Formats: sequence, C-alpha cells, structure tokens
Amino acid sequence: MPGDLDEALDRLVRDIPDWPSPGVTFRDVTPLLADPAGLRLTVEGLAALGREIAGGDIDKVVGIEARGFIFGTPVAVALGAGFVPARKAGKLPAPTYAVDYDLEYGSATVEIHRDAIAPGDRVLVVDDVLATGGTLAAVDDLLARAGAKSAANVVVLEIGALGGRARLDPDRFGTLRTY
Ligand code: PRP
Repeated sequence: MPGDLDEALDRLVRDIPDWPSPGVTFRDVTPLLADPAGLRLTVEGLAALGREIAGGDIDKVVGIEARGFIFGTPVAVALGAGFVPARKAGKLPAPTYAVDYDLEYGSATVEIHRDAIAPGDRVLVVDDVLATGGTLAAVDDLLARAGAKSAANVVVLEIGALGGRARLDPDRFGTLRTY
C-alpha cells in the first residue's frame, strides 16, 4: 500500500513553474484529487499517519482553509471523528479565537469557533502543504487558546527547503512526502 501511495504522489502531484509568482514552483494536488485511487490512498495515508502519531483515537479533525478542508473531511470520516474548519479571518459566524501569523510576504489571520474544541479532545490537524510552517504553527496557537493541543499535525506534502518543520513539535508532525 505505501508503494501505491508513493507511486500516486509521484504521478499525480504536478509542478507548476513560476506560479503564483516568478521563481516559485507550485506543487499542484488537483490531479491527485481527481484520481479515484490517488484520492483514496492519500486520505487513507493521512488517517493512518495521524492515528499512528496520535497513538490512538481522534475526536476532532481540524482542516485548514482551503485545501485542508478537502483532505481533512474524509480523514475525519475515516477515523470516526468530527470535522472543525480553521478559517481565514471573517469567515466564521459565531465567536472565535483568532491568531495572526506571518506569510512569506505580509500576514494573515486564522480562526476557529470557540465552542468547536472541548478541553481534552484528541485533535488531528490536517493540511495539504507545509511550507514555512507559519500556518500550522498558528493553528497550534489557536488550539492552545482553546485549552487544547493537537495530538498530531499531518500534511500531504512538505517543502523541506523552507524549514517549516523546525517551527513545529517534531514528535507530533508527519508528512506523506517531503520535497
Ligand atoms: C497554503 C497551504 C497551507 C499553507 C502553507 O495555503 O495550503 O495552508 O499555504 O504555508 P506555510 O507553511 O508557509 O504557512 P494558502 O495560504 O495558499 O491558502 P489556500 O489553501 O486557501 O490557497
């Protein structure tokens, strides 16, 4: 099975040169999403990795806008967990916790609903890509605001050269592939 997943990632994650800006190579997961076996293998891989790192059952999967929603929701179903969206500023209707974080250029804000995570919930955070690590580190801070801590943080792809892993707890981080 891991061999099949590796083959799917090799074949179905495509490089888009000079996007979204010159000199940047974007890793595009849309072909992986469009492929039935690739999608299934990726979701199963994230669920298994998250469960292994967490060392047991998961109560809530937090998916990060936007591609973390796509992967996080089926991972939650696979694990028998609920799904909680971590959204960009101004998108959630009820009271939220909010954390500001730096992007490569500029800054952003991520939020969760205050009542979405209960103290003691076992939380798995899912996103598509780890780049600088700012987004996942901000979600770690959000969960701390909610009195919680993720049991595991998993992504499909890590851009190793950007060193984002150093901003996270290495014992709680996992990736299906490092570039
Ligand atoms: C991308 C990606 C991660 C984040 C990783 O999201 O989906 O969430 O950047 O970058 P970092 O590790 O440097 O923080 P983006 O902000 O492009 O949002 P989108 O998914 O809504 O396009």
